[in-house]
Amino acid sequence: MKDTPISFEVVSKKIKESNLEKLGNASIREIKKLVDQIEKETGEKFVRMEMGVPGLPAADVGVQAEIDALKKGVANTYPDIQGIPQLKKEASRFLKLFLNIDVNPEGCIPTVGSMQGSFAAFITTSRMYKEKDRILFLDPGFPVHKQQLKVLGQKWETFDVYEFRGEKLKAKIESYLSKGNIAAILYSNPNNPSWICFTDKELKIIAELADKYNVVVLEDLAYVAMDFRKDLYHPGVKPYQATAAHFTDNYIIFISCSKAFSYAGQRIGLMILSDKLYEKKCPDLKGFYSTDLFGRAMILGTVYALSAGVTHSAQYAVAAILKAANDGEFNFVDVVKEYGEKAKIMKKLFTGNGFYIVYDKDENDPIADGFYFTFAYPGFSGDQLLGEMIYYGISAISLAITGSERLEGIRACVSLVRREQFPDLENRLKKFHLDHPVD
Ligand SMILES: Cc1ncc(COP(=O)(O)O)c(C=O)c1O
Repeated sequence: MKDTPISFEVVSKKIKESNLEKLGNASIREIKKLVDQIEKETGEKFVRMEMGVPGLPAADVGVQAEIDALKKGVANTYPDIQGIPQLKKEASRFLKLFLNIDVNPEGCIPTVGSMQGSFAAFITTSRMYKEKDRILFLDPGFPVHKQQLKVLGQKWETFDVYEFRGEKLKAKIESYLSKGNIAAILYSNPNNPSWICFTDKELKIIAELADKYNVVVLEDLAYVAMDFRKDLYHPGVKPYQATAAHFTDNYIIFISCSKAFSYAGQRIGLMILSDKLYEKKCPDLKGFYSTDLFGRAMILGTVYALSAGVTHSAQYAVAAILKAANDGEFNFVDVVKEYGEKAKIMKKLFTGNGFYIVYDKDENDPIADGFYFTFAYPGFSGDQLLGEMIYYGISAISLAITGSERLEGIRACVSLVRREQFPDLENRLKKFHLDHPVD
């Protein structure tokens, strides 16, 4: 029986009962369930870093607008599939003011979370050209995207960008695109799980190759404006959110309202189709839709078939949130900056106790502090480390499920960890370090 911060006996029993063959392959929800059970039996609180859920209250301006809309009676009416006009208008303004890109409101479409946006994009982009039937992931990435393709029976290619930053990215991506079967490239920026952010040089490489090989860029801005190294809340003034859309007009951008506006519960996001892509004609689409126009196929074909639009009241909420942000009245970046500040402290606690950050650079710059970070400990695989840390009251997920090749790594999400827990975290990390001395 070992002396660990959380009862060795209970943790061992619960891991056994969970029937998980390898903790490293466990999904986020499976880890959550296991830790819930251990907490219940021991009465001890874990430092919970497994789930990427917002830890802040929902944007108030949104909640109020949604209540007002419900009281006005929008709940009994189907919303337009393409979104309510004021949301489309504010989304287009947001793109101009915070990304410095011009997009017609027509191409700004609400989706049921950005998850639905990616699902719709996978379906529609893979039908543009018969020969282009798969997605290329610039990994590590959000595991549910692969789950979406599994459900759809669609194919994908992937590589871990760790060894291919900067100029090296070009030859690597080209080795996939030159085969002629890639419909679209997906990456998140800032990245879940590693919080790397592609540099302008890298975004330009992605954009230029997408143009060269007629591939759609799927840019997942689930954490829009959350690269806290720069203050990105200056409507209409530099610096802007980095985006491949500065270098190509062949893109779909996904903006999630879950993290930037803490609006995860209402399941609403935005799918942005560039003007050029919206108008693009692809005869092969006719095999699946009544039109060969990409924008129409996407909205009146795919999005219609998936959910016939997005909850009416939630659209009013996001229209109000975006309007307030656009008008300079709601500094949402200031609110979520708390994640970056916590990450900075937590990373120090880890690195001060023998751990190291796995994805630690954007080309030559140190990585930003944000919603996630990745860590490892000498001599442990990610799977072993995850299992061992549970005895120390710390839960996270293995990078193995994210398409990362850094199998020693673990992803930590800072959102649910409260500042009052930092002393506990520090003590547990110290004990871990003591129990596992590094040469
Ligand atoms: C990279 C990434 N994309 C998409 C999503 C899903 O966002 P939404 O809640 O808007 O569906 C998440 C959520 O964690 C994410 O991390």
